[in-house]
Amino acid sequence: MGRNRDEAQFDEYRDWQWIKHLILTDYAYLWPRILGTAYGHLVAVDACAGAGTYTNPDTGEEIAEGSARILARHAQLYTSERGPNKTMRVICCEKNRRNYESLVQAVASFEPHVRTLHGNFARHVPEIVEALGDSPALILLDPIGVATIPADLWRPLLERKGKTDLLIVLHMAGVHRTGGWLTPAGVPNPRIAPAQRGVMTMDRVFNGRDWREIAVEPELAGEDHREERERRYMKLFFENVIGSRHRWKCYCPVRSRYGGPVKYWLLHASDDRKPYQLMNDEVVKVNEILFRREYPEGTIEGFVDAELAAQLTRAEAEMAEEVLDYLGTVPGGTLPEGVIEELLLSRYFGRVKSNVPWRVIKGLCKDDRLVREKTKNAAADPHEMISLPKAPTPETTEGAKVVPIRRAA
Ligand SMILES: C[S@@+](CC[C@H](N)C(=O)[O-])C[C@H]1O[C@@H](n2cnc3c(N)ncnc32)[C@H](O)[C@@H]1O
Repeated sequence: MGRNRDEAQFDEYRDWQWIKHLILTDYAYLWPRILGTAYGHLVAVDACAGAGTYTNPDTGEEIAEGSARILARHAQLYTSERGPNKTMRVICCEKNRRNYESLVQAVASFEPHVRTLHGNFARHVPEIVEALGDSPALILLDPIGVATIPADLWRPLLERKGKTDLLIVLHMAGVHRTGGWLTPAGVPNPRIAPAQRGVMTMDRVFNGRDWREIAVEPELAGEDHREERERRYMKLFFENVIGSRHRWKCYCPVRSRYGGPVKYWLLHASDDRKPYQLMNDEVVKVNEILFRREYPEGTIEGFVDAELAAQLTRAEAEMAEEVLDYLGTVPGGTLPEGVIEELLLSRYFGRVKSNVPWRVIKGLCKDDRLVREKTKNAAADPHEMISLPKAPTPETTEGAKVVPIRRAA
């Protein structure tokens, strides 16, 4: 029997898959170590786990580890280092039978840290929610097309009480295809057989019909606007599906080469700042790897490093100006340091490492362009007020005597 799309993708390791696996590997190592400081038992759920490994179909040789194996390996490592009071477990679901069989084999050596479930993960949601209890969970959703993750089916994983970090990989090809089945009025084209069903599924994926407006917007039509359409779909997914439950969240495009077309989108949401910073730093790392790949061997030594350093200097200068401009618009020209840092990090997500915003703020204070509540060398404190310097008043500039308020009254 031939292999379908869900199965065939594990026969080769495409040039962009390493990106999600690199990020997942670093995340799976650090996530339990961050959350584990406050919680005992952690669970990762690989809801669309795949085959566990990527294998050359001709030679049988393993090409790369898949998400389930990466998570399982880290669960085993963490639990052996910190257990029995601190543990990490993995629950994997896979709907495709052949992939499921491979998955079971691929993670067998990581028992008892891994549990595998066959079938659409939606069917297992009640069981998974119960198994998670109040433990912090990392939910990885990586379907090959978004049609298999209608929002209503996985909402209980989002709405559970325990802390929930989300890592979602979204490919938009199916959304574009289904969008093409709409009439200009945004209803399923009656002349296209699968339109009615496909469009209604997409309504469930995006938790409403708003995506249809993006799909039929004439100004966003065509290949030239594909990325902008995807950005709007992501924003919608972010707002209508993920909602306001998480304090720290972001989404970013993944490309196989620097500046190339978007292959998929990565969405991350967390209740904690550190995993968010970690995700930011991972995206910066990937972008740097892609940038370096643009330069062939034989490029003058040090050239790429110098170019990266120049990009960072430019970004820091832009950030500094933005902070000053922004503080100029808020009452009193003052904000807590944590708020300024958060603002900068969200605007420059994936462009600069998470330690850069504080460096920029500190630099502005050192140059007296901003004023700290604390001394100039004090450690960062998110509650410390950072202000624009007070403009000199006419009295002080003319050296006039300042009358104490009580005496003046
Ligand atoms: C992109 S692959 C997963 C790759 C895997 N996360 C990795 O990085 O190694 C998508 C897999 O999810 C499975 N899948 C898609 N939708 C699913 C669903 N609703 N429930 C369970 N499995 C699903 C597909 O059969 C396919 O094997």
